[in-house]
Amino acid sequence: MATEAEYRPFRQDMDAAARYLSIHPPLPRHLTTKFFTNMLYLQHWMRYTEVGFLIHPSVHLPTPGLKVADVACGTGIWLIELAKQVPKDAQLEGFYISSAHFPPKDELPENVKLGYMDMMQSVPENLLAQYDIVHVRGVVLYVFNDDPSELLANFMVLLKPGGYLCWDDLDLAAHNPKTSDPNVSHEIADKIEEFGRMWFKTQGLPFSWLRSLDTTLTSHGLEALVPHSQTVSNAGARPWTLMQPMANRHFFENDINTMCEAGKMPPGSPSAEEWREMSEGLIEECREGVRLLMDIVYIVGRKAVEQK
Ligand SMILES: C[S@@+](CC[C@H](N)C(=O)[O-])C[C@H]1O[C@@H](n2cnc3c(N)ncnc32)[C@H](O)[C@@H]1O
Repeated sequence: MATEAEYRPFRQDMDAAARYLSIHPPLPRHLTTKFFTNMLYLQHWMRYTEVGFLIHPSVHLPTPGLKVADVACGTGIWLIELAKQVPKDAQLEGFYISSAHFPPKDELPENVKLGYMDMMQSVPENLLAQYDIVHVRGVVLYVFNDDPSELLANFMVLLKPGGYLCWDDLDLAAHNPKTSDPNVSHEIADKIEEFGRMWFKTQGLPFSWLRSLDTTLTSHGLEALVPHSQTVSNAGARPWTLMQPMANRHFFENDINTMCEAGKMPPGSPSAEEWREMSEGLIEECREGVRLLMDIVYIVGRKAVEQK
């Protein structure tokens, strides 16, 4: 576990992540704001409410001495909530590329520790085969060219033999604006959706890998359990929908606007002015009843007890 002194300054972390993401530093500003911290909290509770569990009930939690790692943990809220559900002697460790979204240390449960780790780099030796459970959530935007192998290898080496990898993500390709009222227009939502798909493709992010993650886990020697996908329910439809224009506007105000002005958007992209109008229009369409939903994908892979 990295100590606070080992944390790199946030800006430096973010620039390293930007280089990895093939985006020229500085990293998209929207990822660095306190608004983004709030979004992470909001998304956590929305997700938890939808799926109803932190760890899938099929996962056997060894007691005593449970050790859990949450990779790319963001705020650490998943572990903070998990601390309420597991014995006090469980060691819960969160890793992230920066401490920017971490709460103050004195607000953490005693058995939760948050520290530095870049999930794209080789795992430090002292963390190898240490964990009964490795949890990872919301990294879909960091799996390039439809190949999760590199990340998967890093997650797997953290696991003890017999340990479980719990991968929880959103299928951004299953994201179609809908409305049950034919009189409600979703023209702007469709336009943003279409641009989003084009943008993700140009960034090497087609997201198809997510639908075959169970097969990929198997081919890497994990036993794939509970491949599970669910569309956000009607009960969750409003908060999920309303969160998105909010995120969209934040992205626009922090990044798209500047990229448009600097001429860095892909050819055929809307202008800054068109973006501004679309952001406002999207809020209006959602207010009128358009639903912006996506699928939640949850997969568990178990590492063999005996390594061949
Ligand atoms: C959608 S957030 C999810 C955070 C957290 N898992 C959650 O569910 O609340 C994904 C995070 O991965 C972070 N990330 C990007 N590259 C990373 C890397 N190389 N190592 C660790 N985290 C990274 C991003 O900064 C982003 O905040």
